[in-house]
Amino acid sequence: MCGIVGYAGEVQAAPVLLSGLEKLEYRGYDSAGMAVYDGEAIRVAKAKGRLQVLREITEDGAQVPGVIGIGHTRWATHGAPSDVNSHPQVSVSGKFAVVHNGIIENYLQLKEKLMKKGVAFVSETDTEVVAQLLEYYYKGDIVDAVIQVLRRVEGSYALGVLCEDAPDQIVAVRKDSPLIVGLGQRENFIASDVPAILSRTRDIYRLNDNEIVILKKDSVQVLNMDLEPVEKQVCHIDWDVSAAEKGGYEHFMAKEIMEQPKAVRDTISPRLRGGRVVFDEISLTAEQLRSFRKIYVVACGSAYHVGVVAKYVLEQNVRIPVEVDVASEFRYRQPILGPDTLVLVISQSGETADTLAALREARRLGAYTLSIVNVVGSTIANESDDVIYTWAGPEIAVATTKAYSTQLAVVYLLTIYLADLLGRLTPQQYADYIAELEALPEKIDAILKNRANIQYLASKFFNVRDVFFIGRNLDYAMSLEGSLKLKEISYIHSDAYAAGELKHGTISLVEDGTLVIALATQRTLFDKMMSNVKEVKTRGAVVLGVTTSLQRQIEKEADYVFYIPDACPMMLPSLSVIPLQLFAYYVSSMKGCDIDKPRNLAKSVTVE
Ligand code: F6R
Repeated sequence: MCGIVGYAGEVQAAPVLLSGLEKLEYRGYDSAGMAVYDGEAIRVAKAKGRLQVLREITEDGAQVPGVIGIGHTRWATHGAPSDVNSHPQVSVSGKFAVVHNGIIENYLQLKEKLMKKGVAFVSETDTEVVAQLLEYYYKGDIVDAVIQVLRRVEGSYALGVLCEDAPDQIVAVRKDSPLIVGLGQRENFIASDVPAILSRTRDIYRLNDNEIVILKKDSVQVLNMDLEPVEKQVCHIDWDVSAAEKGGYEHFMAKEIMEQPKAVRDTISPRLRGGRVVFDEISLTAEQLRSFRKIYVVACGSAYHVGVVAKYVLEQNVRIPVEVDVASEFRYRQPILGPDTLVLVISQSGETADTLAALREARRLGAYTLSIVNVVGSTIANESDDVIYTWAGPEIAVATTKAYSTQLAVVYLLTIYLADLLGRLTPQQYADYIAELEALPEKIDAILKNRANIQYLASKFFNVRDVFFIGRNLDYAMSLEGSLKLKEISYIHSDAYAAGELKHGTISLVEDGTLVIALATQRTLFDKMMSNVKEVKTRGAVVLGVTTSLQRQIEKEADYVFYIPDACPMMLPSLSVIPLQLFAYYVSSMKGCDIDKPRNLAKSVTVE
């Protein structure tokens, strides 16, 4: 999604904005721009395409003088990617320049009103309405004009505003779209995410909805909508700058795949003490847990696939019915929620608009909300009753890998914890689970060491047209993720099916040479899976099987096999996902795709 950077300081702003925007490229965008006050007027440079185009037209920013400015990478929603639709958008006289993330839902009504009053629009964007409204309501006080505009706009936004009449300040505000303030030495920043400013400061404020910031080089004032000062806590970012760099890998995705043993260990270890799962961070009691009649798991995309795993493992171990929902569907289907429901929300970014809306709906209806989130202090984390952080570190590649693996790790921890609270595990089962958890990072590492085999398999299949992933139970959940990984970064059409469901329609798509990736890790379902493999083989499919090293009989049925180490059935998803990620990565690389920034996709989806 769009990215915002703003700078007020002593050095030339344009190069700082460009390098900040570069760190936000991972979010996905199709045009970029900046507005800088050059001492006399606001100068705007913007262009469709990669940031490199903006670099070229501004000579890496050298052609844009001035020490205060706002920059933006746009992911088109209202109006196609074009120079004119890029941000910043300016008001009719050029007095105001605005960068915006989010969507102004009532922009058409507002636009019509302004047009009737003679205001001429040049772009198709909802953002231009904000710039024009600012000028319309401006009577000499910028913050007052901002408040007038906020009273009229509906939707989600993070806004950065520069006004020619106050050339030493940026005014910023957010609602339902993330925005942070970076606190430097004689320089301050706004940004939509930490990597944009990490090379210049590690001290930040995370803004809440409806907080207004007046940012100058020497001061940062945060006000509420009644213009009262708001006390903010400084949050110190302690990641290594290198965590947001490629560190010698060709792509962030490769680096993040390889970081998984560490990410999973970092997520599990602090929660294991004396052979027990300990969650100091959650306040949910055994009594509350006993009162829950149902658990809902709500998330989007890959996080939803973790939810599908959670459904199987929670139901099996905790014995409370679990429903898993795509967040964008959940909120509009009038879910039956109340104090007797636990809503588990899963999100890497903690800012996904649909997931956040689902969380708010759950809270409104009185459910207990527990979120699994990677970004500390994000909106979903802040608004949940309890939050469990995944310690994956910053994930930059659009396609999630290490955050996904840490979410799975939290699901196992939580399952053991909840099942134990309800007395559902024998001491032996409990001890076995702990031993399996502790062994996971090493087993993931062993698969990664064997990645050349997956690279070989990718070289055999990188030019196929369709791929079907099939599996049963947890292997079905992994099929969903394997299929998503492949299609999102390699653009190969692929689908995932519950293996037993094939014969009810889908098998008609299988023809000579169709690649079927059959996940057959679950011991109890292995024979059933082999029957399904036979069914597709009979229709001409080429089958790549993924199973554990204990189930070598697969070689009788599959054309190619990738073995993962054995583990307890519940934790096998953490192992089977690794070859699926690697397969997608290598296929995409062999096809020459833009692996870290696949077309049309954004890292953090902050619009509905
Ligand atoms: C796929 C992927 C997405 C995200 C989804 C939810 O590789 O990364 O499907 O899982 O957009 O994002 P978060 O977890 O930030 O809520």
